[in-house]
Amino acid sequence: MFDAKVHVIDHPLVAHKLTIMRNKNTSVKDFRELVSEIGMLITYEATRDLPLTTKHIETPICGMEAPTLAGKKIAVVPILRAGLGLVDGVLRMVPSARVGHIGMYRDEETLEPHVYFCKMPKDIAERDVMIVDPMLATGGSANAAIAEMKRRGCRHIKLMVLVAAPEGIECIRKNHPDVDIYCGAVDEKLNDVGYIMPGLGDAGDRIFGTK
Ligand code: PRP
Ligand code: URA
Repeated sequence: MFDAKVHVIDHPLVAHKLTIMRNKNTSVKDFRELVSEIGMLITYEATRDLPLTTKHIETPICGMEAPTLAGKKIAVVPILRAGLGLVDGVLRMVPSARVGHIGMYRDEETLEPHVYFCKMPKDIAERDVMIVDPMLATGGSANAAIAEMKRRGCRHIKLMVLVAAPEGIECIRKNHPDVDIYCGAVDEKLNDVGYIMPGLGDAGDRIFGTK
């Protein structure tokens, strides 16, 4: 019935910024700033379908019926921890969005994701939801986060990531064909411990400087 689309943000600024992020010598400060900047650029594309209405305004020259957002309710939902790095960029583009948090950790051996925290705006079921996380690797975390949002009644969900692996995209397309994916790049594959190749390493550790 649905056919989830993968939107790769094919833009020189995104490509350039991602290259700096991929470099293992990039500092925590620069990495964190770049996550936020690319978050802003991807949000620009991910909000392209927001409905507009018009309102009457007076310019200094004359009156006009001017376009204005139709007031859709949006929630940005970062997958903890690394998803937090993208929130600021989304909010700079959509300042009225609400923020819900979903905590997800992966069992280090099985790579199975578990929800350990979920705090959403009360009216989350009425909102368009943008789940954000820098990495879509096996897809396990995003898959579980989307399932949790659907369990809470959300029907319009998008997934925004910086780097995706083909395996993760396949996982989301198979389990959630109604969820469009917005990403800065699709990389080659996963390595044998579930990291994206070439990727950018452990996004959470690089954002928060924990390694
Ligand atoms: C990373 C990343 C995603 C997940 C992707 O988080 O931010 O949430 O891995 O992997 P997957 O697609 O195979 O599920 P991680 O589990 O390292 O936690 P962190 O955000 O605390 O660093
Ligand atoms: N999580 C990360 O932070 N990086 C990867 O490459 C895969 C999962």
